[in-house]
Amino acid sequence: MSTFVSPEPSPLSLLLLGDQADPDTERGVECPGALPPPVDEDLVRRVRALKAELGDRLFILGHHYQRDQVIAFADVTGDSFKLAQLAAARPQAEFIVFCGVHFMAESADILTSPEQTVILPDMAAGCSMADMADISQVEAAWQVITRAGLAQDTIPVTYMNSTAAIKAFTGRHGGTVCTSSNADASLRWAFEQGERVLFLPDQHLGRNTAIRQLGMTEQDCVVYNPYKPDGGLTQEQLAGAKMILWRGHCSVHAHFTPEVVDDYRSRVPHGNVLVHPECRREVVEKADYVGSTEYIIKVIEAAEPGSAWAIGTELNLVKRLAERYPDRNISFLDRTVCFCATMNRIDMQHLHWSLEELAAGRVPNPIEVPEQDAKWARVALDRMLALPGVLKAPQD
Ligand code: 13P
Ligand code: SF4
Repeated sequence: MSTFVSPEPSPLSLLLLGDQADPDTERGVECPGALPPPVDEDLVRRVRALKAELGDRLFILGHHYQRDQVIAFADVTGDSFKLAQLAAARPQAEFIVFCGVHFMAESADILTSPEQTVILPDMAAGCSMADMADISQVEAAWQVITRAGLAQDTIPVTYMNSTAAIKAFTGRHGGTVCTSSNADASLRWAFEQGERVLFLPDQHLGRNTAIRQLGMTEQDCVVYNPYKPDGGLTQEQLAGAKMILWRGHCSVHAHFTPEVVDDYRSRVPHGNVLVHPECRREVVEKADYVGSTEYIIKVIEAAEPGSAWAIGTELNLVKRLAERYPDRNISFLDRTVCFCATMNRIDMQHLHWSLEELAAGRVPNPIEVPEQDAKWARVALDRMLALPGVLKAPQD
């Protein structure tokens, strides 16, 4: 009987395809000869011409996790919060083409004027984390909290990465929205309003912020599982918790493990580990720096030439940083290739189709949040915008 022995890890963690090779696998093996460009040049020319034709009527937003081919056409890039603010700061643009995912386009629709239309080039570009909290499940959880006599003291806080219906739920129940860059300020505000927080939908961002930035412990947190009766929690457990964390996660960031951090450190002892707070607690604990996508970019911009970094966030962004700063020795933290599948749905073909439709006088894939949800979601978003430390968008 033979026993499988896993191969020794190679000294490379990030394999920029075509640049390097891992001798133990086929990953990164070079294709010899001249390769065709990644995007059809004719398509690039057509998108460029359509963009020029639509002029100031059009504003293209690109999230940091978008493909390079799409980012090349973005008027501005940013995290979900910054992009929503920038859309609101561009009232002359009739059409906002949002190269990101559905919840981001919804937030932009809520924050822009009724005369502006937000367009998502591919309606299948959703977010698996946002899908982990359905409004009917959240309403049911609130009933459980109410039956336990805790609703008066419980403040809902939802991560930007949630549906407009959940942002509206939060607004109606005296809560707020947060992003990965202001989750600590949002939680501090919430604890001034009540005794405990119902944090939706990312358990990791909630737990990491509560423990790292608010000094809580694991014992202060419970996880509400929407697929179990009463969330799988007793009334005593709910009453004893400061943080009721929704059982949701990001499939991209939850992929990173503490073992890959150890692996990187053993191979690059002087290297720095920089991760997004959507990563699991065990990974965040081992990291040197933790922050939102905007934070990650700023840290790398400020890094010394010759320094070494393993970054735990979406691969399109890490690849772009590695290409932009070749003197910083940037690696992807995981050994497997890990793009956000839904972010990647926005490609040149979908961008081209959206612009072609607009030029022909049709509006493809408009994102329209129902008025009732928009009203209450805006209340929750405005509470977040009023928090200290939230940067105002630059006006152009
Ligand atoms: P930020 O861009 O707000 O850091 O969020 C990361 C993310 O997962 C977006 O979907
Ligand atoms: Fe959602 Fe994660 Fe993709 Fe962001 S990276 S869109 S949170 S699945």
